[in-house]
Amino acid sequence: MISVTNLPAQFDVVVIGSGAAGLYAALSLPNHLQVGLITKAKLRTGSSKWAQGGIAAAIAPTDSPDLHFRDTMEAGAGLCEPVAVQFLVNHAPEAIAHLVEMGVAFDRKDGDLAMTLEAAHSRPRVLHSADTTGKAIITTLIEQVLERPNIHVVAQAFALQLWRDGTGHCRGVSILFEHKIQWLTAGAVIVATGGGGQIFAQTTNPTVSTGDGVALAWRAGAQLRDLEFFQFHPTALTKPNAPHFLISEAVRGEGAHLLGFNGDRFAFDYHPAGELAPRDVVSRAIFSYLAENAGDPANAHVYLDLSVIPEEKIRRRFPNIIRMCAEWGVDVFSEPIPVAPAAHYWMGGVATNTACETSIPGLYAIGETASTGVHGANRLASNSLLECLVFAAQLRHLAPTNTTEPLPHPPLLTLDQHWAKESVKVQTIRADLPLLLWQSAGICRERQILTEAIAQVADWQTQLKRMAMAQFLHLEPGQVMQLNHPDAEMEIRLYAEVCNLTDVALLILKSALWRTESRGGHYRTDYPETQSDWQVHTLVEGENLRRSPKLFPG
Ligand code: FAD
Ligand code: SIN
Repeated sequence: MISVTNLPAQFDVVVIGSGAAGLYAALSLPNHLQVGLITKAKLRTGSSKWAQGGIAAAIAPTDSPDLHFRDTMEAGAGLCEPVAVQFLVNHAPEAIAHLVEMGVAFDRKDGDLAMTLEAAHSRPRVLHSADTTGKAIITTLIEQVLERPNIHVVAQAFALQLWRDGTGHCRGVSILFEHKIQWLTAGAVIVATGGGGQIFAQTTNPTVSTGDGVALAWRAGAQLRDLEFFQFHPTALTKPNAPHFLISEAVRGEGAHLLGFNGDRFAFDYHPAGELAPRDVVSRAIFSYLAENAGDPANAHVYLDLSVIPEEKIRRRFPNIIRMCAEWGVDVFSEPIPVAPAAHYWMGGVATNTACETSIPGLYAIGETASTGVHGANRLASNSLLECLVFAAQLRHLAPTNTTEPLPHPPLLTLDQHWAKESVKVQTIRADLPLLLWQSAGICRERQILTEAIAQVADWQTQLKRMAMAQFLHLEPGQVMQLNHPDAEMEIRLYAEVCNLTDVALLILKSALWRTESRGGHYRTDYPETQSDWQVHTLVEGENLRRSPKLFPG
């Protein structure tokens, strides 16, 4: 492992993030390139490890990429990019074949890969490894990465800021690593920092999902897209003080029923497909049901009843869900699981093409950080792990340019201070922001509430920008800082994360206010209908929002 004393200052390529996207990108890059794999926590931390349901691919004899294409387009509610979706579904079988070849132990039935059904899929096409598919994939990818001499893992290193040279090309990134802030230069930088569920009080995402890559790319001037589209998963465990642990859609795919207070299967009142309707529909059904029937809808829940699934199947398919529920006092064999929706997946992100290129030369984005166009306004279940792999694989064609401009070498700055007083304020914003976003930009949104939230978040952003710690997000390229106070690193890290959360929260709120219709993961109670003239992407460039050309003219 790399430490601050043997960290090279230059790589051919820097990959930021070690989820499925970052790990697979590092493995896909040509072997002759020296790759720095930067990750802000332990190597295996991120959403990928927690993925449960599985990974979609049309490989069953009864299935076809065309059907997978159709289902993905339909779930995306008019905002999918057909070229990107075609690319995804066509490359899915080879991505799966590579995982199997590397040793990922997917479940099998009679020797063949076993497949389950998930909501809005017209065929059972979700491959799984019990209910810990993400862990199985990540474990294998990490083993492969650690065997590759050209990949240099830099763990517990926090990416702070991207560097664009005089020509506008992205040439590197500053990192906070072992009490030092320094620059790593590279011919290309790949952002794979995952999603941003932590902007919401109720989320299935791990604590690292703070939208860092999207915020870094935005501050560097990259174009962002469709930020208002956030997917709320219908069934997260809801118990006082428990994390919003995901109860996989595969549980409903295997037949579990969603029940209201009187044991009624209320989901059918909202959609003919009931609990297997698209995710946004089921989440809104629960939200509406609770609004109509619960005394305190914000803290209420409905029930997921597994009693219709044979016990042996539950034990085989969902051992981790059984264990986690038991830990929080729920015996899934004798009682229904209390569930409610939680923020789960961010469809929006850094705009990219099928070669993972962003609007900044030399900057690439993959995985949940990217907006490739495959998910549109609402992601089809289990298409995300697939997207990570299919798009990261394209980086095998990457030929990074050499660094043409040398970095300046300003004198080393040694800092003895820390920022305890500012940190108290930063912690308060960290606690308050997700509650505000859950209320204002959660499952149902409305003009007045969005407007008030924008004012509050803008105020927090101004306060953060005025703090002394702001200097660390706007360093001169090449500047190296040694932090002598033991608390300084933690304080700067928290500050940077809260700035990222605030920046992306403000952009999400502004995008949600701007889009005066409802579509997929974006629902406005004051504009409940989908409007054909809004069949456009929301493009964010700096402070400006604009519409893309219409997706399907006429
Ligand atoms: P992540 O796996 O989140 O990895 C991001 C990485 O970036 C982490 O290593 C993190 O530490 C690092 N990082 C972040 N910021 C910085 C920074 N500033 N500096 C350095 N490093 C940084 N999708 C499916 O297709 N099927 C499923 O069954 C499924 N189940 C899911 C279950 C859960 C509970 C969750 C939360 C998501 C699920 N998803 C599923 C969605 C899917 O898991 C994610 O979209 C996908 O794994 C994202 O992968 P990623 O590599 O983009 O990001
Ligand atoms: C789940 O298992 O329900 C999550 C699947 C996904 O998010 O794609």
